[in-house]
Amino acid sequence: MVIFYDMKLVFATNNLNKLKEVQEILPSSIELLSLKDIDCFDEVAETATTLEGNAQLKANHITEKFGYNCFADDTGLEVAALNGAPGVYSARYAGEPANAENNMAKLLTNLDQITDRQAQFRTSICLNLDGKQFLFDGICKGEILTQQQGEKGFGYDPIFQPDGYTVSFAEMTSEEKNEISHRGLAIQKLIAFLKTY
Ligand code: IMP
Repeated sequence: MVIFYDMKLVFATNNLNKLKEVQEILPSSIELLSLKDIDCFDEVAETATTLEGNAQLKANHITEKFGYNCFADDTGLEVAALNGAPGVYSARYAGEPANAENNMAKLLTNLDQITDRQAQFRTSICLNLDGKQFLFDGICKGEILTQQQGEKGFGYDPIFQPDGYTVSFAEMTSEEKNEISHRGLAIQKLIAFLKTY
């Protein structure tokens, strides 16, 4: 028999869409709190050189300063022909301030004339729970298109086409994307773990 414990859990994000999406699929015994809910307005610098490291930095900040069980995520787009770049630097690939159009333009330029277009999105989630730490990851493999397609989504969505599809992430509904996306898969692993904890 699975026993559910009453638990408050912080999701270290300011993105309310991500928060809502996770709360909807969590067991009702787990109350998800946002950073605002715990009066945390700190900007944690993402200074690690890996996705796991950045997820750990964010989760550890909350657990150490505020004392909550917490999880945090970090995502990057890893392009095979560019040795995994932009990877952990995806948000600011074209420099500060972060700008999706400039990031996509830089990536398309760097892949100009390159036929190997294989890439993957990878999300790492770090969970701090009752003094222990757990990592979960989610990968979505696909390819980088030669030009933007579609208007939905965010970030690199218009130039990423997941394997087995003929449309980009930016041409999918958020439900379609969440079912196969890196973040969706990592969150499903986290939730499966929490349900049996
Ligand atoms: P974050 O860790 O979720 O903030 O993601 C870091 C960066 O990766 C974002 O600023 C985007 O550029 C890119 N990114 C993350 N997830 C996605 C996605 O689902 N689609 C497109 N780009 C993404």
